[in-house]
Amino acid sequence: MPKPSPAFDRADLPRLRDLLEVKTGLYISDEKLPRLKEPLEQLRAIDGAAPESIIAVIEGGGDDGERYLQRLVAAVATNETYFFRTTAHFTALKDYLLPELIERKKALGAQTLTIWSAGCSTGEEPYSIAILLLDHFPEILSWRINILATDVDLDALEVAREGIYRPWSFRGVAPELIRKYWRPLDGDSRRVDERVRGLITFREHNLNIDPYPSVDGVSGIDVIFCRNVTIYFRPPTIARLLARFHACLVEGGFLITGAAEYSREAYGEFEARVLPETVVYEKAPARRPAASPLPLPLILPQALPRPASRPAAPRIAKSRPDATRVEDDAVARAIDLIARDEIDAALVLLATAAEKSATDARIPFLLGRLAADRQHLPEAAYWLGRALALDPLNLWAHYFMALLWIEEGRLADALTALKKTTYIDPNFVLGHFYLGTIHKAEGRADQARKSFAVVKNLLAGPGASEDLSGADGISGRQLLVLVERELAS
Ligand SMILES: C[S@@+](CC[C@H](N)C(=O)[O-])C[C@H]1O[C@@H](n2cnc3c(N)ncnc32)[C@H](O)[C@@H]1O
Repeated sequence: MPKPSPAFDRADLPRLRDLLEVKTGLYISDEKLPRLKEPLEQLRAIDGAAPESIIAVIEGGGDDGERYLQRLVAAVATNETYFFRTTAHFTALKDYLLPELIERKKALGAQTLTIWSAGCSTGEEPYSIAILLLDHFPEILSWRINILATDVDLDALEVAREGIYRPWSFRGVAPELIRKYWRPLDGDSRRVDERVRGLITFREHNLNIDPYPSVDGVSGIDVIFCRNVTIYFRPPTIARLLARFHACLVEGGFLITGAAEYSREAYGEFEARVLPETVVYEKAPARRPAASPLPLPLILPQALPRPASRPAAPRIAKSRPDATRVEDDAVARAIDLIARDEIDAALVLLATAAEKSATDARIPFLLGRLAADRQHLPEAAYWLGRALALDPLNLWAHYFMALLWIEEGRLADALTALKKTTYIDPNFVLGHFYLGTIHKAEGRADQARKSFAVVKNLLAGPGASEDLSGADGISGRQLLVLVERELAS
């Protein structure tokens, strides 16, 4: 009779933990170490492998090493996933990221789109991406589209390739969508449609050691989803991963992580984009336009619009931290960071503040300003719109919104917004100035002269030759020269 292999003792577990981290990046804390016991005992029962030989086999790699590693990964990492998990990410992809990418690609004449679902588990994430493309972007379906879906867990990948799912994977998915893209099977399972499967390539890939999809200088990856994967990784592992993601993205490509995984510190080389209810990371183009064509100065803290009204503090507030103070702190800290040119840190701080406070108009206002500065006009419009919904008399939000509309050529909308600024403050020089500019551009010479005349009157007053808040360094005196020239022509 073969001699049973020796049982594991506690000293084996830390060694295996270290090996697991080297091989996969997965790290388990001391308290969770006992989780390794069960898979090890199973291996011992099946293969009769002793602790020493299991460690040696994993270290050596090869098929057996992979198989042993799989057992440990399955015991430590969760495969939990479902279709359209974290709706905000899919909304961001549909409403902001893909329209931007597609427009850029069209300008370059490049008809390719590559999206990588890294750590795809049983496939719900890449299938959701494919369905979103089929459902909302029919015009690019003739492009070379590849959704690359990878995971280290072979069992999970097998389920993904199979494409058969039980109702639990569909929680929250609209019944019409289910009927459109999944075929019912016996029982309550459904199989994902061939059109969807055709867009995806499944592949085994270990994020910690395998080479990343390479960039050939033309294609590269446009969007990486790596969500709820790095939760078990330690900061140096995450930093290494992020540098590699950064390298294989195209310029202007995006990284989407799980909500619990974003932090400015961790995402060093990326720029933060604050979209509705989520933050994504962009590999910013190496050369941005040097200066914003929009005159968008930073409004100083004392000029920042305050929240229109605050609900009366509930009695219990006395014994709790003051919510208002927390918001003020976030806004003040964000302004401090902006002044020190730490824009991404400010963005992440404001994104968190926006989630906590739905009532303080200054938060979306600042988010809108920062997005506009970086020329992210659709999200700038979203945030300024949010600021205005909370504080309809916010002159500066109307003003910056008007500048956005001018930038986008929507002059009628710009006119409406500028009129509002001059109703709110009839002495608002810049509002009258841009009204004059738009009237002139649209051939309404008389109205243009009227607006320019108001500007001249306002600027003729005492002190008007000083700095003009909101005019990007243009002084009142310079503006006066400009309108006098207009009036003389
Ligand atoms: C919780 S699932 C996330 C699934 C999906 N991304 C989501 O957010 O719904 C985490 C996945 O990460 C995978 N994973 C963990 N370490 C990995 C590594 N080093 N390389 C590739 N995948 C890994 C696990 O196998 C697991 O399938």
